[in-house]
Amino acid sequence: MTRAVCPGSFDPVTHGHLDVIERTARVIDQVVVAVGTNMAKNALFTPAERVEMLIEECAEWSNVEVTLFRGLLVDFCAANDIDIISKGLRGADFDYELQMAQMNRRLTGVDTLFLPTAPQWAFVSSSLVREIATLGGDVTAFLPTKTAVRTMARIASRNLGVANDV
Ligand code: PNS
Repeated sequence: MTRAVCPGSFDPVTHGHLDVIERTARVIDQVVVAVGTNMAKNALFTPAERVEMLIEECAEWSNVEVTLFRGLLVDFCAANDIDIISKGLRGADFDYELQMAQMNRRLTGVDTLFLPTAPQWAFVSSSLVREIATLGGDVTAFLPTKTAVRTMARIASRNLGVANDV
């Protein structure tokens, strides 16, 4: 039985993420979606909230589970009998993703499977979604419906906080 992890910040989960999770679940027996913390990013949702949204959005795939992880991804893989890291690959991310894949392989031997991002989502990233939503743009096309509603609500309450601080 092959087990793969789809790791990410998922802040918030986008259609692009879900496309990669679904495609991974078609070719791998068991898929663990692991919500990690990217230290370089300023989070919109707590890790627990991101897990909650992912559980809802992945409910239709019976071989997919969602969990949190802390620390090194390779240690998470070793502790959970995971053989493969599965990631969506956008052109702009290639150098960074290749470097992480090679480093992870060097650390413990765990290999990375890259799936080219579906063309219709190739330009979508959580960071851009956060930026557009924060500045009042419409991001509903890029997010699953419930996640879009929660994202707009979170941004609205944040912006209200900022306005009150001024
Ligand atoms: O969605 P993101 O922000 O690209 O996800 C990045 C994430 C969380 C998957 C990545 O930062 C990660 O793997 N973090 C765990 C820490 C780790 O293993 N670092 C060494 C990477 S070679």
